[in-house]
This record gives sequence, C-alpha cells and structure tokens, in this order.
Amino acid sequence: MKELTEDHVVESLFRDREDSVDRVLRSRFGEAFERFSMRLKDRLRLQERLQKNTGEDEQMCIDIGRKMNLLDSQTFETVEIATRWTDFGKTGPADATLEQQSLIARMYAIEKTFPKPPHLMSLRDFLELSADPDITRRIPEHLETLWDMGLIECNVRQFINLHAQWTMDIIRDEPAIPYEAKVSAALHHILEGNNPDGLVDLSTEELMIPSLNRPIGMQEILTILLDKYQARRRFPIPGTERLRTHAEQIEWLRIYMEKYVALKQYPSWLREKLHACINVLEGAGPFSEFFAADREAENVEAALAAK
Ligand SMILES: [Fe+2]
Repeated sequence: MKELTEDHVVESLFRDREDSVDRVLRSRFGEAFERFSMRLKDRLRLQERLQKNTGEDEQMCIDIGRKMNLLDSQTFETVEIATRWTDFGKTGPADATLEQQSLIARMYAIEKTFPKPPHLMSLRDFLELSADPDITRRIPEHLETLWDMGLIECNVRQFINLHAQWTMDIIRDEPAIPYEAKVSAALHHILEGNNPDGLVDLSTEELMIPSLNRPIGMQEILTILLDKYQARRRFPIPGTERLRTHAEQIEWLRIYMEKYVALKQYPSWLREKLHACINVLEGAGPFSEFFAADREAENVEAALAAK
C-alpha cells in the first residue's frame, strides 16, 4: 500500500475543497458553467472562496425579483443572469494576476461601515478596517501591490466605483453570457454615474444604449434596484444596530433614487420608471422568509392585533 504522506493529505484536502466549490458553481450556473473560459472559472472559484456572501446576495436578489412577478420571462431571464455578474468586478481588473485578484477580492469583502466619508479615506485606511489577518498583517506589501496596479492614488469611493467597469472588462468576451445581461450587469451603478465602456449615451434625454439600439429599460432598472435593495438590508440604520424592515428599506430606496436622479440630472421618464418599479417591489414584500427584521415586524403586528 502506498504510504500516505502529509503532502498527499494536504493535496487531497485541497482537491476536495476545489470540488465542493465547483459543485456550488455548477448548481448556480447550470450547464453554462462548462462553457465559461478557464480564466473565468478560475476567477469564479476565487470569488466563491474569498467573498462567500456574494453568491448568497445574488441568489437573494433573484428570489426577491421572482416574487415581484413583474416581467415577462425573457426580461427576467436577463435580470437573473445579469445579477449573477454585477459584482464580479470585485475580483479586480481583467488583467490582474492571481495575487492581485486575491488582494482586491479580500478588499471588497471588507464590511463597509466607514468611520468617515469614503472619498476622504485612503486605501491604507481601507486596509486597516479589514478583519482579515491576511490583510492587516501585510499592509505595506499590499500597498506595494496596489501601487503596481496603478491604484494607490485612489480614495475608497473611487476604488469601489471601479468594479462596474472591471465587471464588463472580465465578461466582455465570454460567449456563454448573453450580451444584454452583460450590459445590465455593467450598468448596475449607472444611477451614480458609473457608465462602463460609455454604454449609455448620457448626452440626450433618451438615455440610449447604442449597442442595443434602445434606451435604458426594465432589465437595467430592475437589476439596479434589486442590487441596492438587497445590499443595503445587510447594514444597520446609521447610529443604531437595527436593520431596516421592508417598509423602511423601500423608504430608503426612494430617497436614494431621488437624490441621484437630481444629482445626475436624469430625465423625468427614468425617475417615473424607477418609482413604478419600487412600488411593485414594495407590494411584493415584506420578505420575512429572507429577513429577520421583517419577521420581527410581522410578530409585533400580530401581537398588537391580538390585544
Ligand atoms: Fe456593485
């Protein structure tokens, strides 16, 4: 019988871990996973290992979207696929080395409750916030990597904004991802003005996407709103430890949307479409199966009704 060395054990543990990551990814992407490039699959594995929440967050967006029962199946299919890719750029630029991808993925995994506005924070400040010892023990080395990547001058706001363009750069040439879904994914921060590849013509009221020969549509709007709704529900109301209920989150979403429509001077038709979509999202909730805050609010209501 072959002697089992320590190296063999480590190697087999590593292989088991890889297999289990691939099982998760296959169940998420179905048969499309086999058609992704090796480069893309490796990055998906890296993201799954280092940003565990991302896959779960994406799934929750999709489940909430299904509950909205709003769109024809073709449109929602685009939103579903797009949602799988929105934050894929959080693994770094398309040409990043494995070491660089790993650093950027760990940085985006830092929980973002900032002690000061992100545009006033340096990347060193950001690294210091990490709870990951692999980050905090090697800050000078990581700053050097960020220097090599040409990112060192970025403040935290600029750094966070980069991921939408990186998403498009990574998936642009993947034939197994439909182009409409790539566009919706890349545009998930268009409300804040992030316009990867200049996909949207912002010079006219129509907000045309020339490569699709149509204006911004429901696919993009729903991808944006589901992403924001879900992401923000993981963060407490500032100054408290309490998470928002569905009603409070809808209120937050309306205020956020108004702020950016005014700030970026978006046309009134976009504002109306956003409002209409938020109204449907409001009607589809609360989502007590996903959020404890909704369950608690429902229990309080039930207790009051029973009095
Ligand atoms: Fe994002």
